[in-house]
Amino acid sequence: MQLPHTADAIQAAPGITVRQVAPSFAAEVAGVPIHGDVGEAQLDTLVDLLHRFRVLIVPEIAVTPGDLVAFSRRLGPLEIHSNIENTLRDHREVFCVGNVQRDGMKASFSTGVEQWHADSSFREVPSDVSLFYGEIVPPEGAQTMFADATAAYDALDDATKARIDGLRAVHSLETLHEWSLPFNPGRAPFSAEKRAMWPPISQDLVRTHPVTGAKSLYLCPSVISHIEGMDRAASQVLIAELMAHTDAPRFVYSHAWRRGDLVIWDNRAVLHTASLFDASRYQRLMYRTTVEGNSVGARAA
Ligand SMILES: [Fe+2]
Repeated sequence: MQLPHTADAIQAAPGITVRQVAPSFAAEVAGVPIHGDVGEAQLDTLVDLLHRFRVLIVPEIAVTPGDLVAFSRRLGPLEIHSNIENTLRDHREVFCVGNVQRDGMKASFSTGVEQWHADSSFREVPSDVSLFYGEIVPPEGAQTMFADATAAYDALDDATKARIDGLRAVHSLETLHEWSLPFNPGRAPFSAEKRAMWPPISQDLVRTHPVTGAKSLYLCPSVISHIEGMDRAASQVLIAELMAHTDAPRFVYSHAWRRGDLVIWDNRAVLHTASLFDASRYQRLMYRTTVEGNSVGARAA
């Protein structure tokens, strides 16, 4: 079911309303409680809506880190981020993004690296779903942009689909590190220990969603070192061509955060990126939980 994005909210299940906010994907959902005791039926509805709309916005709720973790765990086991200093001391599953430092936590702050990606593509089994909560939200900037990589794949011409069919891209945390170094001078070099822990991983360039069967473009320009069988330059040209197609305005939803918004997205179907904010004037603190791969699909199968 696709709704016109100008439609009013409709009832998705008793007490749960949904309103599509972008032409091909993304919907605002109200009525699903975000805590560990959420009912099975409510959770099933949410997962069904996530598969249908790929990005869900739960607007302006007040969620504690404990509730966010407990709710997220209902979707599957959670990843612990590779940078432990960016996680909450009492909830290691919560990865903090922004420019706030408190209680032994230093939020992850990068600038200049706003690039399209899906979370943890450098893991052998990348994350299914991410949940991102606005704890402290600047009054301007810092939007999160989503690209509908599923609709973008559908819209490719047949010749392009045939050209990229079966290609595998190599994703590497070290590539991301190298990419970000010029923008973040002083960052520690990628250690031998990290290299051993995070070897390059090959992923399908066109991935097939395990539940919906829909194909999408798996493009992470700052994480992909190259496409197997192609040199770096040719790889970058192809990735850039596909990315320019995918981040066209008709496939993009930009989320302007209000305090307490929770956005849940399906890493297997969409890409996302950050946008800048004035960190010299404003504070920002976002909590992210990340559901391990092969969890949410298994649940709905
Ligand atoms: Fe991300």
